[in-house]
Amino acid sequence: MRIITAIKEMQSYVKHNYRRGRKIALVPTMGYFHDGHVMLIREARKLCDRLVVSIFVNPLQFGRGEDFATYPRDMKRDLDLAKEEGTNVVFAPTADEFYPPGYSTFVDEEKISKKLCGGFRPGHFKGVTTVVAKLFNIIRPHTAVFGQKDAQQVAIIKKMVRELSYPIHIIVIQTIREKNGLACSSRNEYLTVHERKDAALLYASLQKAQDMVKAGVRDAGKIAESIRAHLASSPVIKPEYVELVNPNTLERVSQIGERTLIALAAHVGMTRLIDNIFVEP
Ligand code: PAF
Repeated sequence: MRIITAIKEMQSYVKHNYRRGRKIALVPTMGYFHDGHVMLIREARKLCDRLVVSIFVNPLQFGRGEDFATYPRDMKRDLDLAKEEGTNVVFAPTADEFYPPGYSTFVDEEKISKKLCGGFRPGHFKGVTTVVAKLFNIIRPHTAVFGQKDAQQVAIIKKMVRELSYPIHIIVIQTIREKNGLACSSRNEYLTVHERKDAALLYASLQKAQDMVKAGVRDAGKIAESIRAHLASSPVIKPEYVELVNPNTLERVSQIGERTLIALAAHVGMTRLIDNIFVEP
């Protein structure tokens, strides 16, 4: 497995493999791998001749007062795991290499990125689309693999790929969960034992909502209310939003008439977590 930190070297690697007709897959990550990352890497491995995993804690997608400085990092462990899973290249540029001093070019999706998390983390998705677009330009993957846990990120990236005409196939992998149902996230690392236990309520509340839909409830307001009530049973959970939306436009729905995304964000103690589920009538 090669470790590449320079953009020019990454581009020559890509050029060399394009000339030989090889298919490249990319798994973009911020490192600190958990089981969710491993599943993304495994899926990508099946779809390509050369697998590139990027590890880059992207400063642009963290707002002021957010956890950029403390975001968990363990490069050695990540490299071992990437190697074990058959990665050909880990692309791990420094922030200065990726965004040289004076950097001022951004990619911004202006509609759906303002909804859900976008309302609480201004600039976050502009950071995500900028880093992902730049990774796409450097690595020119045929396929890129993302996780459904970040449902809004997936919707925005799919839209960006369509609208900027990237010839890239976006694959989305289902959310991987810990034993108690908590969605795998590098930020779970911040939770205390007690918070981790209560954080399981996030998924439990979504499952209950799914049961309501199965039982015939169609009123989005009632379902959101049930989720909020479920979360209120823990004193350490402070919901930020609970919304039922169209999975592509992220527009709110009032009735469940077709496939609907139920997305939530909540603070569990000091840690902000997100989760989601799809429901269908
Ligand atoms: O999902 C993530 O880990 C990040 O948002 C991504 C896509 C790697 C961009 O930094």
